[in-house]
Amino acid sequence: ASSLGAAAAQSGRYFGTAVPAGKLGTSAYTAILDREFNMITPENEMKWDTTEPSRGNFNFGPGDQIVSHAQSHGQRMRGHTLVWHNQLPSWVSNLSASDLQSAMDNHITTEMNHYKGKIYAWDVVNEAFADGGSGQQRSSPFHDKLGNGFIEHAFRTARAADSSAKLCYNDYNIENWSDAKTQGVYNMVKDFKSRGVPIDCVGFQSHFGTGGPPSSFQTTLSNFAALGVDVQITELDIAQAGSTQYANTVNACVHVSRCTGITVWGIRDSDSWRSGDNPLLFDSNGNPKSAYTAVLNALNAA
Ligand code: G3I
Repeated sequence: ASSLGAAAAQSGRYFGTAVPAGKLGTSAYTAILDREFNMITPENEMKWDTTEPSRGNFNFGPGDQIVSHAQSHGQRMRGHTLVWHNQLPSWVSNLSASDLQSAMDNHITTEMNHYKGKIYAWDVVNEAFADGGSGQQRSSPFHDKLGNGFIEHAFRTARAADSSAKLCYNDYNIENWSDAKTQGVYNMVKDFKSRGVPIDCVGFQSHFGTGGPPSSFQTTLSNFAALGVDVQITELDIAQAGSTQYANTVNACVHVSRCTGITVWGIRDSDSWRSGDNPLLFDSNGNPKSAYTAVLNALNAA
């Protein structure tokens, strides 16, 4: 196949990208988006600071713009993200524990209800584990006021709100199997599966340095999949976009049957949150880079 989305579809997978609503009016951008990608993650538009800037005051306009584009171009959507300590309006951080619990429940329920039937998978909780060697949850308003159980509570609330969307936990620096952070998330998913807490998938953001993925990445993906969840690469970018590093990343996914898709975090280098690293598959003029060909070939070989 001659596009990323069509090539991924040959093995039942998708190939997606992060999209900001503000670029949907740029034809040089949408030409690539609609030619190459069949899954979209809103880059910022479904985050709490946009969707509920003040308590009970919901704003789904920017997210709706992206959903509408996706629906008219045959693209599916990943919802990103319901509960995250960043891009969190200050009113949330200032609540008492009991108010925070009800605000979190209301936020999850209202946003999922609004998008019901339009989202393939939700990042229900994003980046809740700490960096470094602890293997524990990080400090955040949610963790500090509600305790470790806030993640389970969020997933149960999400399932009750929408029983058909897939419910994912999403994080970065969980790609290397032996890291304490990876083990912490793995143990949480294992515990959830053993106790029947609803979780369907784990997203590995995969913001890599010049070396690309750790050599254990495929092992990590297959170990998580063996717990009974789908796994996805959700925010891929690689400093300097080496072809080998991109091919290694795609191969780690396509060799794991429950790795259902790959999303890159932007289209052109100029679209990237780390644009100084030139980490994406298209240059700033929209021309495919050598990493693009490497990814396409790896998908076609799967
Ligand atoms: O919208 C305002 C604009 O009004 C203002 O003039 C401008 C000035 O700084 O800021 C704009 O907001 C920025 C927003 O992106 C939209 O462009 C924020 O400052 C900026 O912090 C924000 O960055 C986003 C970042 O998440 C914030 O945490 C990036 O676009 C987005 O790519 C990035 O995505 C995250 C994932 O959600 C989670 N994983 C890590 C990933 C990379 O950081």
